[in-house]
Amino acid sequence: MVMRASINSTTIELVQGDITRQDTEAIVNAANTSLLGGGGVDGAIHHAAGPGLLAETRTLGGCNTGDARLTGGHNLQARYIIHAVGPVYRPDDVEAARLLASAYRRRLELAVEHGIKSIAFPAISTGVYGYPLDEAAEIALETVISLVAQSRDIGLARFVLFDARAFDVYSRTLSAMADKKEDLRLL
Ligand code: APR
Repeated sequence: MVMRASINSTTIELVQGDITRQDTEAIVNAANTSLLGGGGVDGAIHHAAGPGLLAETRTLGGCNTGDARLTGGHNLQARYIIHAVGPVYRPDDVEAARLLASAYRRRLELAVEHGIKSIAFPAISTGVYGYPLDEAAEIALETVISLVAQSRDIGLARFVLFDARAFDVYSRTLSAMADKKEDLRLL
């Protein structure tokens, strides 16, 4: 399943699939502060990228929640991996919402700094970190769409959802946004 929208010069794409199999220039990892691997997206990316990734992340000295670090893609199709650390969800915690938005913003900033034109995001914090999908989808799409609306640097921002439920939540969120934002057009 794929859903597309356009804003400014960027295509926003929702796909159901596996982040490790994306052909974008960069993929984003849902990492932890150690950057030394884990389960979920983190485990899948380290497994697919191979041991060279861990050797590289060991040299980075970790990453704060809400921040992002860049490495090579190693055995992945993607040339780069942007490791971002989302917040652990706590109900009514505005700090968690701010940190999740920050994690998306820092990843896009890093991508632009490295001239990356296409990037694939997993649904950061919605797994082990417990963020409700609907709240996370709103923050993810709102943050990325508001950033790409102001710059012409990113050609494709793809959200890779692992299952049909996540795809459904993200697609309903994107449709609702397109109803409110006149410069966001569903394709
Ligand atoms: N491709 C795309 N999405 C995936 C994949 C995959 N291969 N595997 C899991 N997902 C989805 C999950 O279904 C969830 O919706 O990615 C979302 C994020 O889940 P997690 O990987 O658990 O990430 P997060 O919630 O941010 O927790 C990060 O988990 O694996 C550890 O080291 C990691 O400590 C960190 C924490």
